[in-house]
Amino acid sequence: MKLAGKTALVTGAAGWIGAAIARRLADDGAQIVIADLRQDLAQAVADEIVAAGGRASAIATNVRSVASIAATVAAVLQAQQRIDLLVNVAGGSARERAAPVARQSEEVIREILEINLYGVIFCCRAVLGPMLAQGGGRIINITSTLATSPLAHHADYCAAKAGVLGFSRALATEVAPHGIYVNCVSPGLVPRPQTPTEGVADCNYLGRLAPPESVAHVVAFLASDETDFVVGQNYVVDGGWGLGLKGSR
Ligand SMILES: NC(=O)c1ccc[n+]([C@@H]2O[C@H](COP(=O)([O-])OP(=O)(O)OC[C@H]3O[C@@H](n4cnc5c(N)ncnc54)[C@H](O)[C@@H]3O)[C@@H](O)[C@H]2O)c1
Repeated sequence: MKLAGKTALVTGAAGWIGAAIARRLADDGAQIVIADLRQDLAQAVADEIVAAGGRASAIATNVRSVASIAATVAAVLQAQQRIDLLVNVAGGSARERAAPVARQSEEVIREILEINLYGVIFCCRAVLGPMLAQGGGRIINITSTLATSPLAHHADYCAAKAGVLGFSRALATEVAPHGIYVNCVSPGLVPRPQTPTEGVADCNYLGRLAPPESVAHVVAFLASDETDFVVGQNYVVDGGWGLGLKGSR
């Protein structure tokens, strides 16, 4: 119960990776607040955690709206008096609307940047006051291996996730002296049940697909006091995919 007594705000925790993170942090004893656009799904994850003996609640939040983020943070503070941990998971690549830059719409580009980059920045900004007042906290931003490895037709998403890396490193230097630890976790492909996966397991060095729990374990590690000297880092969870081509083993 490494996180007993801690309150964790997890955005996007109604989704595939976010729900796994919420479950894992709850297993470690944290009170989880699931903040997601989809309140129905967020409530279902909260109910599941509570049924398993954990502590969780759900709140409808749109990370594209500064007002919505502020309302969520205010609600958490009113209920729990503190926010020890923020995990920014809300995001996605809108794969079905991916397109070459020359043909991509302004609407999609703005949406991808708003959810994946501005959402992270404004959620971080919203918790800094309370974390500074309480003398510390932890922020973990989920980015992607696409922050550093390009993928055609996803330039907006790559830019947003690279932005999260840069933002997180800069923020880490600002707030580490105040006891606030900011770090990133970058998953490779973590396929949902409906994701086509033919050949994917052959791309990494483990020969299997990544379950969302593999990301959650790293988040739990960074959320714990065991990482008390880790600042502004990016933990890659990709089974070695990014190390380069397989073939010479
Ligand atoms: N699944 C992967 O292969 C993979 C790989 C690398 C990085 N990531 C990143 O991990 C995170 C989670 O991905 P996932 O696969 O679990 O996706 P997902 O679609 O299952 O979950 C994303 C969640 O974010 C929520 N969300 C979307 N827009 C929102 C908004 N404006 N406000 C609040 N919530 C919003 C959705 O409702 C959903 O519950 C994303 O940031 C994604 O970019 C995923």
